[in-house]
Amino acid sequence: MEISGKTAVITGGASGLGAATAKLLHSLGANVVIMDLNDEKGPAVCSELGSRAVFAKTNVTVTEEVQAAMKVALDEFGSISILVNCAGAGLPMKTVGREGPHDLNAFKTIVNINLIGTFDSIRWAAFYMQNNEPNEDGERGVIINTASVAAWDGQIGQAAYSASKAGIVGMTLTIARDMARSGIRCCTIAPGIFDTPMMALMPQKNRDSLAAQIPFPNRFGKDSEYAMMARQIIENPVLNGESIRLDGAIRMAPR
Ligand SMILES: NC(=O)c1ccc[n+]([C@@H]2O[C@H](COP(=O)([O-])OP(=O)(O)OC[C@H]3O[C@@H](n4cnc5c(N)ncnc54)[C@H](O)[C@@H]3O)[C@@H](O)[C@H]2O)c1
Repeated sequence: MEISGKTAVITGGASGLGAATAKLLHSLGANVVIMDLNDEKGPAVCSELGSRAVFAKTNVTVTEEVQAAMKVALDEFGSISILVNCAGAGLPMKTVGREGPHDLNAFKTIVNINLIGTFDSIRWAAFYMQNNEPNEDGERGVIINTASVAAWDGQIGQAAYSASKAGIVGMTLTIARDMARSGIRCCTIAPGIFDTPMMALMPQKNRDSLAAQIPFPNRFGKDSEYAMMARQIIENPVLNGESIRLDGAIRMAPR
């Protein structure tokens, strides 16, 4: 699908992979709506972009806020053709730790943000996308989700995160099938290790250990490389129903 002139809604677009994608799509002529909790970085990204960029403060775990943000996109730009789900969070906690079993609310919080927040954004965006005029290929919209290689090779302490990301991988083909009749594609990007503010929180020892595990290129991915993949998914009409590892061939070790 051609990007120029389309409206892209990007959850988690205030930072890291989402912000890089917002910037690339905007540079290719898209209108951009950033849905993010962070009401300092979100507006800052939008003012950097200038026109055709709007911030909608949104907690993706609150469905009223997700719905309101979609309305902002429709009111500002008339339609939604692209959804990129980047909002996400992690929380290291073992299944049984020194203080006892994994806190269940902590597990639910991560699943709520990463999996349910992603699905809620998908269902509303797809609901509006189906009204778009199809292009010559019959396409009306593209949905891109962000899982993680932890969907397959989760490290020690990543039970909640892995479960939430595996849920995203699991629903990708189903959603592509659900929306096929409407000409809406759905793919998931499963990043390995990317240098973003999320990873900057990690102690240097863990960063070094992770970087050493990446066969080639032997470095963290760049947010612009994630954005390149998102662009390809949007532009390539036969990419559908697939979860794509973007990981320099890393297979994460237990720790
Ligand atoms: N950086 C990596 O190495 C890596 C690897 C695999 C997967 N991922 C995934 O990529 C996505 C983007 O991560 P990133 O590295 O750019 O992190 P980041 O922290 O730079 O960006 C995440 C953004 O999501 C927003 N967010 C968090 N919870 C939210 C909520 N409830 N509602 C709305 N917005 C919310 C944050 O405010 C932030 O702006 C995440 O889903 C993450 O799990 C990242």
